[in-house]
Amino acid sequence: MRPARSSRPVVIAHRGASGYLPEHTLVAKALAAGMGADFLEQDVVATRDGELIVFHDLTLDAMTDVATVFPGRARTDGHYYCIDFTLAEIRTLSVGERRRPDGTGPRYAGRFPDGAGRFQIPTLNEELAFIDGLARALGRPLGVYPEIKEPDWHRRHGIDLAAGVVAALEAGGWGAPQRPVYLQCFDAGELQRLAGQHQCRFPRVQLLDVAGGVPSATCLAQIAGYAQGIGPSLRLLGTGQSADEPPVSLIGDAHAAGLVVHPYTVRRDDLPAGYQDVDELLDHVVHRLGADGVFTDFPDLVVAWVRRRFPG
Ligand code: G3P
Ligand code: CA
Repeated sequence: MRPARSSRPVVIAHRGASGYLPEHTLVAKALAAGMGADFLEQDVVATRDGELIVFHDLTLDAMTDVATVFPGRARTDGHYYCIDFTLAEIRTLSVGERRRPDGTGPRYAGRFPDGAGRFQIPTLNEELAFIDGLARALGRPLGVYPEIKEPDWHRRHGIDLAAGVVAALEAGGWGAPQRPVYLQCFDAGELQRLAGQHQCRFPRVQLLDVAGGVPSATCLAQIAGYAQGIGPSLRLLGTGQSADEPPVSLIGDAHAAGLVVHPYTVRRDDLPAGYQDVDELLDHVVHRLGADGVFTDFPDLVVAWVRRRFPG
C-alpha cells in the first residue's frame, strides 16, 4: 500500500478517552493524556448564568441524573436544558455513561458500568487549567480542541458562545506556542465571524456532517478563506461504501486547498461497515488517504497504531 503521508498524524481524544470512562469527565481527559493523545477535545455549552461547561448535549437528559435531582424542571418537550440550570445546580448532578435517547440502556454496551464512580461536569475554565496541569506534570505539550456547540441557539438565549470560548483560551494563556489549540464548529457563519470580526488567532476547523454531502473543490477553497482545516465525518471519506461507488477524493482536495483534515470518530465498538478493527480503518483513512489526524474514543488504540506506523 502506497502511504499518502510521511509525517506523524495527531491523535485527538474525542470527549477524552470516552471509550473507557464517561465522556467529558476530567478523569477521561487524564486517561487520554496518559495514553499519549496529542489533543483533548471539549464540546462547550452554556448554563443559565452564562458559565461555559464542557458537555456535548444542549440537554442534560442522556448523561446525568437531572430528572431525579430536579423533577419538574423539564421544558414542555420533556427535556432538561443546560441553559435552564445555573452552574451551582449543574454541579449537584452526577454524570454517567451516555444512555440511548429512549433511556433503555447505555448507548455503547460494554463501556464503563453504571454506579462504579461519581463524576461531575467541569467548567471550561476548570478543564483548561486541569489540562495545563497535566501537560506540566507529564512534561509534554497537550493540545485542546474546543467545539462551539450550536452558536445560533446560544445567541438566541443571550450568549455569545464563541466569544466566551476565545476569552477563556486567552485568559488561560492558550495563545502560547507550546499550547496547541484548534477551534471547531459545524456553523460556517460562526467560524467566518471568528476569522473576520474577532480576528481570532486560534486555528479553526470546519466540521462537516453527512447531511451536507462531500464538499466540492470550490467549497473547500471557500473554507480555506476562514479556516485552517476540516473535520469530516468518516462517512464523507467513503468508508463503508461499496466497491462499485466512485472513490471520494475529499482529503486530497482539502490538502490541495491548504486544509488539514481531522475526521471523526474512530470507535472500536462502532466501526464503519467493512472494517475488522481500528488498525484496518486507520490503514485506510490515515495511511492510504492521508488524514492528518483522527478523533477517537479509544486514544490508546490510535496511539499504538501511530507508533507502529511512524516509529521514532
Ligand atoms: O467534533 C468532532 C466531532 O466530535 C463532531 O461530532 O457530535 O461528536 O461533537 P460530535
Ligand atoms: Ca465534538
